[in-house]
This record gives sequence, structure tokens and C-alpha cells, in this order.
Amino acid sequence: MNFEQMKKELGMESCPGCFAEIYEEIKDEWKNRASLILSEAYIEGVLTEAKVLLPYMETVLSAAAKVRENDALCLLVCVLEKWVKNGGNINDPDYTPPKGPRLDYDFFHLFAAIPTIPDSVRYFRNRNVPEDIIAASLQEYDYCFEMCRMNIGRIAFDKGRLVWICHTINNELIRIGRFKYELPTKRVSGVRVYKNSKGEILTLADGLHIHRTGRIVGSIYCEDETESFVADITETENEIIGHVITDGNVAREKTSFSKLEWELCLSKDDAVIPVHIPRDGDFDVDTIESSYARLREVMANCFVDMPYKAIHCHTWMMSRDLRKVLKPTSNILAFQKKYIHYPCKSAGTWVFGFVFPGEKGISDIESLSEGTSLQRNVKELYKNGGAIYDDCGFFF
Ligand SMILES: CC(C)(COP(=O)(O)OP(=O)(O)OC[C@H]1O[C@@H](n2cnc3c(N)ncnc32)[C@H](O)[C@@H]1OP(=O)(O)O)[C@@H](O)C(=O)NCCC(=O)NCCS
Repeated sequence: MNFEQMKKELGMESCPGCFAEIYEEIKDEWKNRASLILSEAYIEGVLTEAKVLLPYMETVLSAAAKVRENDALCLLVCVLEKWVKNGGNINDPDYTPPKGPRLDYDFFHLFAAIPTIPDSVRYFRNRNVPEDIIAASLQEYDYCFEMCRMNIGRIAFDKGRLVWICHTINNELIRIGRFKYELPTKRVSGVRVYKNSKGEILTLADGLHIHRTGRIVGSIYCEDETESFVADITETENEIIGHVITDGNVAREKTSFSKLEWELCLSKDDAVIPVHIPRDGDFDVDTIESSYARLREVMANCFVDMPYKAIHCHTWMMSRDLRKVLKPTSNILAFQKKYIHYPCKSAGTWVFGFVFPGEKGISDIESLSEGTSLQRNVKELYKNGGAIYDDCGFFF
């Protein structure tokens, strides 16, 4: 089996250019590597040691047995293993994964990731990350299975899951209590934030193209540029002049602020900690706050070399439009309250994957479920021409 035969046998329409180079590197050893990383003893050993995918072990081992029978898939797993380890862009559209009979094709991406699990454990232990946090962070694999169940109706580990699990492979995602956090990364775009001596915060739009409705041009129902404006910041020797953002709304007029009073504290050059919200667990304020508190502790004790300026979140759950569809006692609204909002370009479709998982989404509003108040009210909002525009938010 060589590279071209693999592509032909698997019916792969395209591959990233680097696949052929990886093949050249591994062509003499991939068979041995495949025998190891697809063997029952290896997979069971790694997963048991790290307590990963335990409830799914039987399915995983059956899938590995199926892949072992398919030489072309074995080679592809070895190429993918090298690709993810080299930090390759798994989202590369040139990578068109093969499709076939369920089990082996549903899971083969997983076998490229499993060999990185012991490295992740070692990395976090070397940084003295508490064992419960390491274990919870590696549960991301289990979460991926459940995401597939939600999206396609059965557990699996598809290309999308391999893309996502690269956060875990790269040791940049940790689970602490209620939330998952990315280790600090530059994620702020569209705002500059200032603080004064009283601790007050001033948020200015930085290059945002504002639609006449106040949304970002290019968002759903906001495609035209009539009466739009670009909210930029200018500076003189003594002043900063820009469009203030109040509760996510960008002022049309500019205001001047004294540089003597206001000091820059957050801009696109700064690292922040992005927050991700898994489905499982209570979502009350105490649970949420204890996660943030432990995050700060872990950052101070284990990642002191990774400074960050703020905690940041971009999701449908940050949308200010949710105020129109959730009751005042809503946990989601209480979660949002801590964040300083700013608008971002939004297709208005993010909400469907998480509020109506596995359903048709925006293409068939009438057919959407009405099981919860949120589902009923979101459906009604879209039927009336509205949308849930995802927002960004941050806090210090
Ligand atoms: C985080 C989460 C558990 C919070 O749920 P919650 O504590 O019930 O939130 P609220 O108190 O605000 O819920 C108010 C209402 O909306 C419903 N609701 C909340 N999240 C919902 C969701 N994702 N799907 C459907 N309904 C939902 C609740 O069931 C409740 O309905 P009810 O009035 O009929 O009882 C839930 O939203 C969730 O599972 N979200 C998915 C995770 C996600 O989207 N992450 C972001 C990825 S970017």
C-alpha cells in the first residue's frame, strides 16, 4: 500500500500537500506504527490509564479491529497522527475524509489522537496541574462522542471532532468545574478598553463596521451598507477619540477622552482566556463563580508564564437578544451579566446547533422543537424576522 493507492482505495478527492511529504517520512515504519497504535492492548492501556472514554471502550475497540482490517485506513491514521502532532491545520478544506461503512469510518480519526494522551498527561503533571483538572480536561474525548450523538444521532469521532480535540492535543484546553478554558491566546478584535483611576471601564469600538441597526455589517439581515459607519479610534497628543460601546451598543457619535485619565488595559495585542460552555452540570451563579476562582488559582500556580488580561467569551449564549426570549430568572442571563458586551459579525445560526441539536435549523423554522421556553421563544423570534446575534464579552 502506497500513498496513491491509499487515496484511490479510500476515494479521497483531495489531500493537503503535506500528506505526501508525511508519507515519505513514514513509508518504512507506518505498518509497525499502525500495529501498535491500533492494537487492543495499546488503546485499552492508554484510555484506562487516563480514564478516557471508559463507558465507550467496547465500541472503540471494535472500531479499532475494523480499521486494522483496512490497510488504507491504517496508513491514513498514521499520516493523520503525524499531521496533528506537527500542528497541521486539520480544518484544511483540502482534507476530504473518506466515508464508508459505519464503525471504522466513524472512528478512525480518534486513533490518530489517542497516542497524544500520555503526552498531555505528562505536560500537565509537569506543571503541577491538579489531578482532578487533568482528568476532567481529558474528558473532552468523551464530550466529543456526545457532541456527535447530538449532531448526527450516534456516537462517533469525525473530522470536526479531530479539529476540536487539537486544543487538547496542543495542551491548550483545560476543564475547571463548570467551564472549559483555553490557555491565554490573542482573541480580542474590534475593541480597545481603557480603565481610569476609579476602576471604571471605557470600551471603544476599534474598526467595527456598524450597520444602521447597530449590528455589524455582514451579519444576518444586515448585509447592506446604507447609513453604516466604521467606528474607528483616533488619538491626539492628549486625547483618545472614539465610539463608546455601552452594553454592546456602539454610539454613532465620537467622544473625546483625556489620556491623563484613561489608560489602555485591553486591545488586540493582549492575551485573554477564552471560555467554552459545556452542556453538563448546574449553571447557577455559585457554580460558575467557583470555576472562575479556581481558574485564577490554577493560572497563578501552574501557568505563571502565560499572562492574560481578561476572561473572554464569544458564543450565542452571550447574545443580548436572549433577553427577549429568556425569563428574568434565567441562568444564562445571570451568566452573561458579569461580561462587558461588544458586537461581532454574526450569521445568527449558532443558536440552532445548541438549542435545537440535530434539527433542521434556520432552513425550516416551522419544524423546530418547542420543548422548552427558550426553544418556543427563539422559534417565535425567527418566525417574526428576528435573530439571536452572538456577541462577545469579557471581564477582568
Ligand atoms: C448552559 C445550560 C445548561 C444552561 O441551561 P439552564 O440552566 O436551563 O439555563 P436557563 O435558566 O437560562 O434556562 C431557561 C430556559 O431555557 C431552556 N434552555 C436553556 N438552555 C437550553 C438549550 N441549550 N436548549 C434548549 N433549551 C434550553 C431551559 O430548559 C429553560 O426552559 P424552561 O423555562 O422551559 O424550563 C444550557 O443552556 C446548555 O446546555 N447549553 C448548551 C451549551 C452551549 O450552548 N454551549 C455554548 C457553546 S458555544
